[in-house]
Amino acid sequence: MTKNIILVGFMGTGKSTIGRSLSQILSYPVIDTDQLIEKQQGRSIPKIFEEAGEDAFRDMETALLRSLLNQSGHIISTGGGIIVREENRQLLRKMGYVIWLVASPEEIHNRTSRNNSRPLLNTKDPAGTIRKLLETRIPLYKECAHLAIETNQLNFDEITTGIIESARYYFSQPE
Ligand code: S3P
Repeated sequence: MTKNIILVGFMGTGKSTIGRSLSQILSYPVIDTDQLIEKQQGRSIPKIFEEAGEDAFRDMETALLRSLLNQSGHIISTGGGIIVREENRQLLRKMGYVIWLVASPEEIHNRTSRNNSRPLLNTKDPAGTIRKLLETRIPLYKECAHLAIETNQLNFDEITTGIIESARYYFSQPE
């Protein structure tokens, strides 16, 4: 089994922050797919969306996941839309234990309205966009993840501890 811990979830659910905290506690290096794509491309995600479009960005996500398939012992935090492609969902499940960080639309709106680094939310009605995107994506997160964690009532330490305990249990099971 490839023992990565993979974080999926909508924008603003804390994947990158939780990823860094898991990485510190477990001493697993962290791979942040958004950051890696920005580094490979030498441009920011808003620039990639503006210059190449969303489809091209999705291609970059798929290419990156394919290249990470043989990695083990990493924390992988992903962009919120990575689960939109079926191939990506299958790749993620092959790569390790997939955890879905869940937050309410209101909480997501609060957290994402602090900056404008997310091109998909640069709309006239970001709260409505969040609700619509969630509607189509929730079944896909569900399909992809081994475990869902409701984050609204938990602090980062509690979320991190919960993930570590459940991952230990998951990795201790026979394949
Ligand atoms: C996206 C989420 C973003 C980033 C891009 C597209 C999405 O990542 O990959 O803006 O489609 O939900 P975060 O979830 O880290 O914000």
